[in-house]
Amino acid sequence: MGKPKILVTRAVFPDVIERLSREFDVESNQDDRIFTREELIARLQDKQGVFLNSSERMSAEVIAACPGLRAICNMAVGYNNIDVDAATRAGIPVTNTPDVLNETTADFAWALLMATARRVTESEHWLRAGQWKKWTYNGFLGADLHGSTLGIIGMGRIGQAVARRSLGFDMKVIYHNRSRCSPDIEARANNAQYVSKEELLRNADHVMLVLPYSPQTHHTIGAGELALMKPTATLVNVARGGIVDDKALIETLRAQRIAAAGLDVFENEPAFDPGFLELKNVVLTPHIASASEPTRRAMAECAAANLVAALSGKRPPNLLNP
Ligand code: DGY
Repeated sequence: MGKPKILVTRAVFPDVIERLSREFDVESNQDDRIFTREELIARLQDKQGVFLNSSERMSAEVIAACPGLRAICNMAVGYNNIDVDAATRAGIPVTNTPDVLNETTADFAWALLMATARRVTESEHWLRAGQWKKWTYNGFLGADLHGSTLGIIGMGRIGQAVARRSLGFDMKVIYHNRSRCSPDIEARANNAQYVSKEELLRNADHVMLVLPYSPQTHHTIGAGELALMKPTATLVNVARGGIVDDKALIETLRAQRIAAAGLDVFENEPAFDPGFLELKNVVLTPHIASASEPTRRAMAECAAANLVAALSGKRPPNLLNP
């Protein structure tokens, strides 16, 4: 019997492909062309495993059309791109890459928060455009981070890593989560205080979104929620685009009903609402919160280890199916 066949849907570190090739007959996509849904299905017809990232959708239809599949391994912690229920019904293990990206994602959440609050990209664009003629007392006034209140929605492992970093800025942390964390977790998260979503939005100077996307968290932040925020507040999203209603956010930013937003994720990325480009009070980055060399490597290795375990009949370390 030959090696199991797998598809790696997008380009990834060559040594990870090499490692996979020792165990599997690998079809890789190192030229990184994005497959259509039909192409994905066609390429998966003779495969037992798929190694994918968060931009490929394994919907119930795709899963049903690939009856030979025995493992779906995502190179991402978020797995809203995979219909885990449909995979479970089909008896297919699904895995993700938790933990390895917590600290890197939290570092970036802070980078985005600082850039947003202190108008880093807006002022840089202005300087590059040759507009800096003199120092002024009121040029690019922003919001302080030190001594302010940070509101974190989603106090999972990444949220906790974000909260820990706030200690150095002497900030107060309030959070909202599906359920309250243990006193021990709250203590380590800079003594974070559990509050309702509404209370958080009313009181936070900076709101940070770090919750997973699901139909239940779709548009967690819409027009009503934005209206509760302070006019001086900032909003940062490093989670998933669908958590925020982009149209409502654009309207709010345009009317300057909040100070600014920093967004690493978008509802239909890589496409995004062009309305954002017309605004100065938004910092936009292309879904790079986990993009440090060691972390992306760790994610790829974690996904590969899950695939090896799943296709050799072992329980993969990061199994998602109930
Ligand atoms: C994740 O791991 O979910 C990141 O957002 C990268 O997709």
